[in-house]
Amino acid sequence: MTTKEKSYQSLPAEILWKEELDWLELYDQNPKPPGWRLSPATVVTFIIGTDEPLRMPKGKKLPSGTNATLRVTPKYVGNRSLIERCTVTLAGERGLMLVGEPGTAKSMLSELFAAAISGTSSFTIQGTAGVPEEAFRYGWNYSMLLGKGPVPEALVPSPVLSAMRQGAIVRVEEITRCMPEIQDMLISILSERVIAIPELEIMERALQGFSVIATANLRDRGVNEMSAALKRRFNFETVPPIADAALELDLVKRQTRNLLDRSGFDIPLDEEITQAIVTAFRDLRTGLSAEGWTVDKPSTVMSTAEAVSVSVSMALEKAFFPSKDIHSAFPGYLLGTVEKDEPADRGKLLAYWDGPVARRGKNDDPVWKKLHDLKDVLK
Ligand SMILES: Nc1ncnc2c1ncn2[C@@H]1O[C@H](COP(=O)(O)OP(=O)(O)OP(=O)(O)O)[C@@H](O)[C@H]1O
Ligand SMILES: [Mg+2]
Repeated sequence: MTTKEKSYQSLPAEILWKEELDWLELYDQNPKPPGWRLSPATVVTFIIGTDEPLRMPKGKKLPSGTNATLRVTPKYVGNRSLIERCTVTLAGERGLMLVGEPGTAKSMLSELFAAAISGTSSFTIQGTAGVPEEAFRYGWNYSMLLGKGPVPEALVPSPVLSAMRQGAIVRVEEITRCMPEIQDMLISILSERVIAIPELEIMERALQGFSVIATANLRDRGVNEMSAALKRRFNFETVPPIADAALELDLVKRQTRNLLDRSGFDIPLDEEITQAIVTAFRDLRTGLSAEGWTVDKPSTVMSTAEAVSVSVSMALEKAFFPSKDIHSAFPGYLLGTVEKDEPADRGKLLAYWDGPVARRGKNDDPVWKKLHDLKDVLK
């Protein structure tokens, strides 16, 4: 990664994982669908990662400085067969629609698929109510149009048209936030793989490798309001929250570590507090604690993504205000997450404090005891 790249707050997956992707491209011996950078099996390996290092087949000429082995970083934590089905969909004629609760890594997955399959995740439409038709088809550079008339140079391609020209994946984030008639532009694009440009009297045809990944949030109004014709052109896959507590804890620790490293400060990660954050998020998300106690669930989603951000905020708070006790910030951050959709859910968090938090404290768990003592913060 160059110094300039390191200075950005976020990087596209193809830059972030460039070394792995280049290595895997060299390693890949399997047949690739037309227009794909990696074979389907290697796409899955890239996203799920490997426990053991892979070894480059003998006889491959490696660029200098490249290792003969690579342990592929696990990126998506979850079901391998979900990733396999998504990969198969993308090699076929239908688009891939990732739906799920907020913060379940739908956007992350769409970016990883685009980077692994097409080498770029930049053909993207961010769905909002204001997205115009031009975002799905094409627009014009009006000063050029006025001067020269409708010439090819005056045409401004949409991300969809650019992806079709390159045989790449286009991502439509939060598709259900776009107006239905705008969403429906994709119907003919997905069935005929062509955009007609009558002003230039041409038809632009998609190159092999073109496909669409859309994401939609189940909490947003909308998936049901998509037209039946558009729904039929997508394979729907639901991305669930992480089922396994240990895997979720691992992920939150890993991502907190990465984000803290990027902050430019040398900040330690408090394992016990991170564990408590993940436990509280899971209890409130699922309505059941690991001990089997029922928990009254708040109406908001308690996503893994938010658990990461609470854990990062707490570590930063401790680093910036060293005299403060690390536990003291936890109830406040948790309350912020719990009551964001429904302020009355503060009562449910208080009940959680009186129930599982108190019981764990009484069982001489020092972290939960300290947390219980901080109950007043919630009032
Ligand atoms: N199963 C998972 N595996 C890996 N990372 C995950 C997982 N679930 C959540 N995350 C983390 O959550 C972050 C947020 O995910 P992302 O923004 O992709 O979610 P989303 O489903 O698109 O949410 P939204 O519906 O709000 O757009 C990811 O970058 C990742 O850090
Ligand atoms: Mg998203």
